[in-house]
Amino acid sequence: MAFLPRYLLLSLLLLNSLLFSFVKSDDEEDNLFRSINSYRTTLNLTTLRENDKAKCLADEIADQFKDQPCTNTTGANTVPGTEPQFSDYPNLLSKCKLNVTTTRDAAIMPACVPNLVPDLVLSNYTMSQYATSLNDTKFTGVGIGSDDNWIVVILTTNNLEGSFTPDNSSANVLFQLGLISQAVFLLMAFLLLL
Ligand SMILES: *[C@@H]1O[C@H](CO)[C@@H](O)[C@H](O)[C@H]1NC(C)=O
Ligand SMILES: *[C@@H]1O[C@H](CO)[C@@H](O)[C@H](O)[C@H]1NC(C)=O
Ligand SMILES: *[C@@H]1O[C@H](CO)[C@@H](O)[C@H](O)[C@H]1NC(C)=O
Ligand SMILES: *[C@@H]1O[C@H](CO)[C@@H](O)[C@H](O)[C@H]1NC(C)=O
Ligand SMILES: *[C@@H]1O[C@H](CO)[C@@H](O)[C@H](O)[C@H]1NC(C)=O
Ligand SMILES: *[C@@H]1O[C@H](CO)[C@@H](O)[C@H](O)[C@H]1NC(C)=O
Repeated sequence: MAFLPRYLLLSLLLLNSLLFSFVKSDDEEDNLFRSINSYRTTLNLTTLRENDKAKCLADEIADQFKDQPCTNTTGANTVPGTEPQFSDYPNLLSKCKLNVTTTRDAAIMPACVPNLVPDLVLSNYTMSQYATSLNDTKFTGVGIGSDDNWIVVILTTNNLEGSFTPDNSSANVLFQLGLISQAVFLLMAFLLLL
């Protein structure tokens, strides 16, 4: 009988690593990060620093887009003013421990490129409406997330409104506690297996 809980825990761990394996390799993201910074360097602009919170949000948004096909009205081709609105955007912010007050100045730029071919991905940013933001001196940080054919670049600023500093309000802390207890549970499951 003693092996039964062990077996259950093992399944839980397998499930957990399975979930993690869905997180795609981020070669495309690193690639785009370097390319954007080279682009900025040739324009004599400061290079962008990686922002983990912005990356978190970019991953969440890419996840929302992933099932949409690339068309001439999606991603970089979106007509300004018709960007899709996510009903659960506040939820995505929460997941990343963010708050609208520190994210409203950011530029959120999704692009859809089949197989995320690097050259096409880069030109979707440097040769589209997004170039205006890439050229902008006010941006100092960047977070890139991708899922399937979608890649999302989020530019952050140095002022509070675009800083992506963590939200410390109680609602968010409660949300985080939920995630932490989940993590503790998995850690314990892991230790018990040893
Ligand atoms: C960047 O700066 C260099 C040296 O100051 C200058 O020669 C070059 O024209 C500048 N490039 C742009 C795109 O402003
Ligand atoms: C997008 O594609 C459709 C059908 O392929 C075409 O009718 C439309 O003109 C295109 N729109 C733009 C903005 O290129
Ligand atoms: C965002 O953060 C500010 C300051 O920390 C707080 O006053 C506000 O209630 C928060 N907003 C949300 C929607 O959590
Ligand atoms: C963006 O990527 C699409 C592929 O989805 C490509 O057809 C288009 O030419 C690219 N746009 C730019 C401006 O590079
Ligand atoms: C970005 O800057 C480059 C170099 O100054 C310029 O050629 C390009 O037109 C600019 N793009 C936008 C959208 O402002
Ligand atoms: C939340 O707390 C962190 C660490 O204490 C701090 O760096 C950050 O500025 C705080 N966020 C806000 C919006 O005040």
